[in-house]
Amino acid sequence: MPALAAWVAAAWVWALPPGFPAPVVPADNPMSAAKVALGERLFSDPALSGNGRLSCATCHDPARAFTDGLRTSRGAQGDRLPRNAPSLVNVAWAPALGWLDEGVTTLEAQMRKPLFATTPVEMGLAGHEAEALTRLRADAVYRTAFAAAFPDDPEPLSIDNAIKAIAAFERTLFSRRSAFDRYVYEDERDALSPAAKRGMDLFFSKRVGCAECHGGPSFAGPMRAVGFETVAPLHTVTGVSPGRFKVPGLRNVALTAPYMHDGSLPTLRAVVDFYNRGGGPGAELAMPRMSAREKGDLVAFLEALTDER
Ligand code: HEC
Ligand code: HEC
Repeated sequence: MPALAAWVAAAWVWALPPGFPAPVVPADNPMSAAKVALGERLFSDPALSGNGRLSCATCHDPARAFTDGLRTSRGAQGDRLPRNAPSLVNVAWAPALGWLDEGVTTLEAQMRKPLFATTPVEMGLAGHEAEALTRLRADAVYRTAFAAAFPDDPEPLSIDNAIKAIAAFERTLFSRRSAFDRYVYEDERDALSPAAKRGMDLFFSKRVGCAECHGGPSFAGPMRAVGFETVAPLHTVTGVSPGRFKVPGLRNVALTAPYMHDGSLPTLRAVVDFYNRGGGPGAELAMPRMSAREKGDLVAFLEALTDER
């Protein structure tokens, strides 16, 4: 790593939530505050799409915990995407990216899909890279910000560096201050309602077994972190549109409706009802029937996973 970048990277401090190990960061894209700030701006800037209309934030809206509220997303030219936009919260630890395991494990590699995909078109950048760079170069803020984020690069303003900056920003998206965290890590006994506490016991119980798949600090199963490499377990899903899908994390899940890879379930209650009818991935574990009160308790627990900030 060139000297200046190495010095800047050494100054980076993770402010990790309790229970989270340090995430894996590619050696050629060390973290820095300047890079994260640039990535945050690019993330919401439609200048990076082919027709200047769509940004990452269009489909991953920070106000909806980085989802879009649609059953399945729409691309810059109106193409319907096949699946629901997942939240990007805690994505730094995701062992694989996307609903299907396509072997994509880094955020840098994943980004090529929304930027350049042609069937369907997402941001439609393929063939329009020069126009996008012209739009970015026209902005004095970007000229300064790219130079600050990539101090050793003779040509800092490039698509590759835009990708690196956005990936660095994505690695800082973690959720930590939910009622659940205050209860577990800050010993705030009243942070959870009695219903949410009962729901938490059910969630982690052997009988209902949600945590068998939705385990770990992100409630997404095994994490990718320094010191341990993991692969994403896929689970066979029965019901509306069957297949094998990755376990999504459940932090801020109350903000990310509609649910499942196809966005087919409108509310958390509908998800719990679906599991209770023997649908969904839980079928693998032969989920027991829950009473109406138990279903309400589970929903109350899921709602307690929302970061209030
Ligand atoms: C047109 C809507 C759309 C746009 C624009 C978009 N995404 Fe996505 N994103 C999706 C959808 C849909 C998926 C799920 C893909 C799949 O697996 O089918 C996804 C998946 C992801 C994932 C994987 C998350 C996980 O946990 O599996 C990441 C990371 C991501 N997008 C980042 C980005 C970034 C960064 C940008 C901007 C460069 C971007 N996306 C632009 C819709 C979009
Ligand atoms: C066998 C593994 C497994 C078990 C057990 C399991 N889940 Fe899931 N869960 C998944 C998978 C895989 C998906 C994605 C399914 C899809 O997209 O069709 C999912 C999706 C979800 C979603 C939707 C998240 C989103 O962002 O769309 C919620 C909510 C959820 N599960 C809650 C629960 C609860 C509550 C329980 C216990 C009653 C539970 N899960 C048990 C594997 C599991």
